[in-house]
Amino acid sequence: MSIEILLPNFIIILSLLFSLPPPAAPKSLLPLPPLPPPLPLIFADHRLAVVYPIIQKFKTIIVSDPLKITQTWVGADICKYRGFYCDHPPDNASALALASVDFNGFQLVAPTLDGFLDSLPDIALFHANSNSFSGSIPAKIANLPYLYELDISNNLFSGSFPDSILGMKSLSFLDIRYNLFSGSVPPQLFTEETLDALFINNNNFMQRLPDNLGNGRILYLTLANNKFFGPIPRTIAKTLSSLTEVLFLNNMLSGCLPYEIGLLKQAVILDAGNNRLTGPIPFSLACLENVEVLNLAGNLFYGMVPELVCALGKLVNLSLSDNYFTHLGPICQSLIFKGVIDVRNNCIPNAPFQRPVQDCANFFAQPRYCPYIATHSYIPCWLPHSSMPPLMLPSPSPF
Ligand SMILES: *[C@@H]1O[C@H](CO)[C@@H](O)[C@H](O)[C@H]1NC(C)=O
Ligand SMILES: *[C@@H]1O[C@H](CO)[C@@H](O)[C@H](O)[C@H]1NC(C)=O
Repeated sequence: MSIEILLPNFIIILSLLFSLPPPAAPKSLLPLPPLPPPLPLIFADHRLAVVYPIIQKFKTIIVSDPLKITQTWVGADICKYRGFYCDHPPDNASALALASVDFNGFQLVAPTLDGFLDSLPDIALFHANSNSFSGSIPAKIANLPYLYELDISNNLFSGSFPDSILGMKSLSFLDIRYNLFSGSVPPQLFTEETLDALFINNNNFMQRLPDNLGNGRILYLTLANNKFFGPIPRTIAKTLSSLTEVLFLNNMLSGCLPYEIGLLKQAVILDAGNNRLTGPIPFSLACLENVEVLNLAGNLFYGMVPELVCALGKLVNLSLSDNYFTHLGPICQSLIFKGVIDVRNNCIPNAPFQRPVQDCANFFAQPRYCPYIATHSYIPCWLPHSSMPPLMLPSPSPF
């Protein structure tokens, strides 16, 4: 058709256009055909069919999803949902199951994980840090046979510590730090046979440190920023012999450091800063041959800083500020210039930035006493590189 033929008909075409419904509309003007029945969802495995309604139900209680994660939670292919991962379950190598959930950083907001986390029968890893989930940990997670990593840190969980965790046979990694849990942690938690890592820092736990503080295999223990009180137990090395990182920071721990703390041979980070610990530093800390960061700042320690501790080969940060230390030998002094040691706000004559003399006088006017003081200079290890005379006692005095 050429333009010359079209032109005379222009008006007719226009009027036709206006008399007809707009092209997108016709369907809505006609009676609707009955909807086809929804296609049945075909799941790759019946185990996925089991968790499908659980996920969909959880989706309905999510009140905020700024990254639009849940938009991908549609259809039968659960293994492709964002945050969900499938694998063969331990009990059947040919089956396919929802094996892990990783919501880290998804910024989801939901009032509870009840009915979700505890209803995923094959789950092995559940990571949901940095969301805004709240409520308490569902008690029924104890029934999850394969769950070995649970990370719900940096959420808004509250209430008391879920005792149901104690019954879990497979849990090796528990991270509930940066939540609002309160009350006390059952002492048996520390002796759970499967736990390697226990991160409970930055909650409101308030209790005496249990005497039995480990199972002999915990590698990471962070109790920082709670309200733990009482002394650091003498059993620490027996129960936490494999510990590489221990954070007691910002609690209300008191008493003197037991020499046994020097038996934590694997410790790389030992942080007991900002507590109410007192006494002199036990010489045994010279046995922490792997230690890189040793923080005792902000306590009530006093006396001499043992030269053998300053001589530790791997030390990069020895924080002793805000205590009442009175003496620093030449090895320790040399660390000041290297920026390794911080002794500000103590009572060390001639060192810069010390406490006012009156503060020190007031502190030392009180009688100071540590139990087991005979073990204070005991060095429970052989220090091959030390030129110091051996300070070993024949045996530590019985407790
Ligand atoms: C293992 O899983 C497959 C796939 O779901 C299933 O067909 C089979 O019956 C299961 N085997 C056992 C022993 O349960
Ligand atoms: C050393 O450790 C203290 C306490 O943990 C910390 O405040 C300080 O920043 C650290 N210093 C260096 C140089 O890393």
